[in-house]
Amino acid sequence: AGIEFGLDAPYAIEYHDSLPSTNDRARSLAAEGGVDVAVVADAQSGGRGRLEREWVAPSGGVWVSLLTRPDVTPARAPLFTLAAAVAVADATREVGVDATIKWPNDVLVVDAGGSDGESRADSVGRGGRKLAGILTEMEGEADRVSWLVVGIGVNANLDPETLPAGATSLRAERGEDVDRGRFLARLLERYAELAADPDAILPAWRERASTLGRRVRVETVGEAITGRAVDVEPPGALVVETDDGRARVHAGDCEHLRDA
Ligand code: BTN
Repeated sequence: AGIEFGLDAPYAIEYHDSLPSTNDRARSLAAEGGVDVAVVADAQSGGRGRLEREWVAPSGGVWVSLLTRPDVTPARAPLFTLAAAVAVADATREVGVDATIKWPNDVLVVDAGGSDGESRADSVGRGGRKLAGILTEMEGEADRVSWLVVGIGVNANLDPETLPAGATSLRAERGEDVDRGRFLARLLERYAELAADPDAILPAWRERASTLGRRVRVETVGEAITGRAVDVEPPGALVVETDDGRARVHAGDCEHLRDA
């Protein structure tokens, strides 16, 4: 069950029917000196999510990890995660599904409110159903990234019943399967475009974000912040307006809240 790739982006593709985790494979390629490789697997047996969570990754998804060595400081690396979210959102829109981004890098499908005033999105998935997630790992010295692995998981041709609660898939949203090879090629092309022009990343992210303007609760190291998300600042910090003033959050878990 191979995938066909017609790729117009500067990455070699390494395809596997199955791997424990494409991120782990990309990391070992990094240790061997590899660069500009997209590791793709039809299925993963030990897919990893953010915050040490498991990532369910059966056959039919788009599971890919991109190994690059961008010439930036480690502090700028979060930008590349945002770029991946933009690339996923754009590739998703191109196949007819209206995707938005929840800070920092979840791609959600949100639909309009239902007749009872509460949308299915609010009732099901904390402001949207999760279509894709991104796990970025890197190694760097003080002034330079040594390698960056951007792991992208898109629930493509999967039945939502096989996925965790609150998740959705392209199959479920479109009512038919996508051509995974073409989807992945578009995603990587778009990512390459953004990576080549880092100043374009934040503006593109802002345009596609569903988090800005909303009330949010962000769990960050040791504390939870509640307030209105007003902006994202370089290299990707969420700015939250709270009762005590403005807080900048660099990493954490964000939940969209209903307006009080
Ligand atoms: C998250 O939302 O928690 C991030 C999920 C990232 C999943 C992808 S699938 C390809 C790559 N390989 C992994 O083991 N994880 C990432």
